[in-house]
Amino acid sequence: MSMKTIGVLTSGGDAPGMNAAIRAVVRTGLARGMRVMGIRRGYTGLIEDDIVEMNLRSVSDIIHRGGTVLYTARCPEFKTEEGINRAIEVCRKHGIEGVVVIGGDGSYRGARDLSLHGIPCIGLPGTIDNDISSTEYTIGFDTAINTAMEMVDRLRDTTQSHARCSIVEVMGRRAGFMALHTGIAVGATAILVPEIPFDLERDVISRIHKTQESGKKHFIIVVAEGVGHVDEMAKQIESICGIESRATILGHVQRGGSPSVRDRVNASAMGNKAVELLENGIGNRVVCLVDNKIVDKDIYEALSEHKDYEFALHKIAEEISI
Ligand code: ADP
Ligand code: F6P
Repeated sequence: MSMKTIGVLTSGGDAPGMNAAIRAVVRTGLARGMRVMGIRRGYTGLIEDDIVEMNLRSVSDIIHRGGTVLYTARCPEFKTEEGINRAIEVCRKHGIEGVVVIGGDGSYRGARDLSLHGIPCIGLPGTIDNDISSTEYTIGFDTAINTAMEMVDRLRDTTQSHARCSIVEVMGRRAGFMALHTGIAVGATAILVPEIPFDLERDVISRIHKTQESGKKHFIIVVAEGVGHVDEMAKQIESICGIESRATILGHVQRGGSPSVRDRVNASAMGNKAVELLENGIGNRVVCLVDNKIVDKDIYEALSEHKDYEFALHKIAEEISI
């Protein structure tokens, strides 16, 4: 039976494209005759009753904006029985029968718990890290790697002018996807990720020496935040190779900015799919991209999957960036 009222929230780290997803959820819900409630600050808003009814104009002028107009939060209280029970009470008070949760694996666990307690949820993959196991793509990844690439292109200008080595740390939490894609896009001499144990001499110093022999004078090393220690690495490279080195941590600039076409389009289609599922009375699912198609999976199944690092792509990078 079709739901009359649904909620939408964003949770965990924000990501460019979350607004496009919210817009799609609101517009699809309204088009199908539902009421749509915007839950602010993730699960915190659900517990504290920070909820506002959305209309067609609530989501005007947001498709091109980074961040999330619903705000986001990390909410430890939601992991407790009291927290969940309070959230259920608030849902009942507003007549919310189903919730679209836009976030990462952590947020999916919250969605699973809420579903278990009687409010069916649909998870949408929102994170710049691309580290959600059930899907090939996450909303925000494309924009973030493009931003990281542009930032490193800027670094390259100054690195090249001074014939230096730049060691750049990109985000990605415990995953190396952002480092790999950024590293390939900027032609980094070396890419270090947490999925592949590295040896500084073998994987960085000897590659610098090899490219020096063929005439290269400046070097970019891309390091995933899950590897870290970029300051120390810069010192070691400078002392071993005699090349002036600088460490740069790109940080939260990677999370902001106007979403790319890919993120806007996928977020729109995924948001639409989430509401379609709820409309058909289907909950406890996550929306994913598999073989470049938007599909849905059971939340339990999604959370138990493992996502492989792109080892083949990493090998290509090693072969051609020398
Ligand atoms: P992400 O969704 O990006 O992985 P977090 O791991 O910070 O981000 O999770 C976001 C929120 O989801 C947490 O603050 C918490 O409210 C909820 N959450 C995370 N893990 C769980 C869990 N095991 N059970 C219930 N809720 C969880
Ligand atoms: O998950 C997105 C992300 O930006 C990660 O890349 C990073 O590790 C983390 O969030 C940073 O979190 P915070 O915003 O709490 O510093």
